[in-house]
Amino acid sequence: MKAQFLIPAAMLLMAASAQAVTVTPADIIPRPASVTQTKGEFSLTAVPLTYAVKGDAHGGLKAYMETLPELFTPAAKPSKALIYIAVTGGEGESYTMDVTPRQIKIKAPTAAGAFYGLQSLIQLAGIKDATAIECGKVADEPRFAHRGLLFDVSRHFRSPEFLKKQIDAMALMKLNNLHLHFTDAAGWRMQIDRYPRLTEFAAWRPQAVWQDWVDNGSQYCDESDPRAKGGYYTKEQLRDLVKYAADRHIRIIPEIEIPGHSKEVTTAYPELSCSGKPYVDEDLCIGKEATFDFLEDVLTEVMDVFPSEYIHIGGDEASKAGWRNCKDCQARMKAEGLKDVDELQSYAIERVEKFVNSKGRSIIGWDEILEGGLAPNATVMSWRGTEGGIKALKSGHDVIMTPGEFCYIDYTQDAPFREPISIGGYTPLSKVYSYEPLEPGLTDDDARHLMGLQANLWSEYVPSDEHAEYMYYPRAYAIAEIGWATPEKNYDDFHRRALMLNDRLTSEGYHAFDLANEYGQRRESLTEVDHAARGAKVTYTIPYSDKYKARMDSTLVDGVRGGWTYGSDNRWQGFAGDFDATVDLGSVRQLHSAGISFMHAPGAWVHLPQFVEFEVSDNGRDFKTVETVWTDLDPVYGKILMKNYVVTPAPGTQGRYVRIKAKGHDRPGAWLFADEIIVN
Ligand code: ACM
Ligand code: ZN
Repeated sequence: MKAQFLIPAAMLLMAASAQAVTVTPADIIPRPASVTQTKGEFSLTAVPLTYAVKGDAHGGLKAYMETLPELFTPAAKPSKALIYIAVTGGEGESYTMDVTPRQIKIKAPTAAGAFYGLQSLIQLAGIKDATAIECGKVADEPRFAHRGLLFDVSRHFRSPEFLKKQIDAMALMKLNNLHLHFTDAAGWRMQIDRYPRLTEFAAWRPQAVWQDWVDNGSQYCDESDPRAKGGYYTKEQLRDLVKYAADRHIRIIPEIEIPGHSKEVTTAYPELSCSGKPYVDEDLCIGKEATFDFLEDVLTEVMDVFPSEYIHIGGDEASKAGWRNCKDCQARMKAEGLKDVDELQSYAIERVEKFVNSKGRSIIGWDEILEGGLAPNATVMSWRGTEGGIKALKSGHDVIMTPGEFCYIDYTQDAPFREPISIGGYTPLSKVYSYEPLEPGLTDDDARHLMGLQANLWSEYVPSDEHAEYMYYPRAYAIAEIGWATPEKNYDDFHRRALMLNDRLTSEGYHAFDLANEYGQRRESLTEVDHAARGAKVTYTIPYSDKYKARMDSTLVDGVRGGWTYGSDNRWQGFAGDFDATVDLGSVRQLHSAGISFMHAPGAWVHLPQFVEFEVSDNGRDFKTVETVWTDLDPVYGKILMKNYVVTPAPGTQGRYVRIKAKGHDRPGAWLFADEIIVN
């Protein structure tokens, strides 16, 4: 892991022959709260830089700097040290950095603050070709307490070495919470002594790649099976990881998913499910006491390994289906006076919370834990937008914001035709960076409960380590900056700094996205299109979905075409099934062409229609078919694309009404997403 810090030193050695670059503390991510330039510069050519540390009671800073011998070396005479670090006592995570030609002085009340000051220096020194730092004074501190990244190690297992490498990168950008999504149907990843089948069986599958596993029936296998792919972390590995992170002022928050996303548990231990059978229930049975014995045992072992104040208990997307027909769940509801399955879920979460609280810890849950009543001391992670988070804030709960639109970095970050297959969406760096957690309408009181934000990399479509890094960087930089820096934003300046940090991480062996060659938004969506149907009245024979109505009846004829996603631009209109709509052009006219676009995003169940039929009419009653256009794309094609279906009627064709019918895809639950009907 130390390899990443070999590079700055190597670059410094090369610097004599390369161009000389003087960097400034305003070049880093996250942007410091205040930078005041003074005269002169501090030379970086004397590497390793001599240092002295004062007030570092636990020796953590010194121990950390000793891991970077290419960059730092203890000063023989502390009074002559080039880098002087002082921990002065007090609270908080602020630091100051005073850069003069002779010395860089970092001062902070706590070791954490000094560590952050040190990271500012390390980032500066590692900027490509940097030979000197402009003199100045930096005063800096974090805006939010929680600046996190989620690692989904269930869908695809990642090694401890991979996680350590990411911890190094996180430290460099002052991210301080690593959320480990340990358990999900795709595999259980933490050694639990009392339930060995979780790791002897439920951590292994015959297919390495999640999609292959799903396509082959989502079966587990024994660890001893020659086909076994996957893995788990031993407690020893996890303790080592916890320490590695803590040495870098990063907390690891373990997540054990309950009661949903638990098929690996109900298959390894069917007695914890409603049906009592393997491979049936997504959810744990809330009626059976054995479930709570299991949860308490597991959480006891989890808390034994993880010192984190917070234990994430999931809570999202429970299907609750089995509970309705399970005699144990029904008996529980009756005995506890619970009126529906939402309250049954809350019963489970509250009971687990009580247990976790009794051990001096707190729970975090996804925003579904609001349904049926929120556990009294729970912190909410708001992912389905920010609505749940705001509701929780208003009721005095702590909240971490991670709204899908901005913080789900399993979405594609560039034009889908140039990107690997993803779950869908389009969340480029600029979109992540535009997120502001403190929304209008939140009071100072609410703000005190707003702990911060986090990006989540769900990894169904992210099989390899390289691919995961590609998804994290540079988007993690935006999370780091929003979480740390003051809220003023200048995307151009952030982009400039992101390119530098990207260069650095790339040169250190991280597989970051090539930000310098970003393609960007769908070109057609950037300019308006004028046409005969623009502003026309549209009559829907099949209504659009309430959930994806975009700009209602004007969407398809407003002259603006959709971008790479239906999720956020309000330009693509969604239909659950088929499409059938008629445009009224106002009067009979010559028709030269008619067209409509549909989207293909199979990771999100969005498919092209099987065919699109165009009809015309003079009176709105008697239609004649112009032409049917068939889809010529293999339905298993995995990437996102947009297809234009266009017909050119025979010369002389006239009409006032253009009707477009599209047959949806056969896949159960498939959606159609349509945009601009263009008629000329
Ligand atoms: C989630 O994305 N299901 C939290
Ligand atoms: Zn049950």
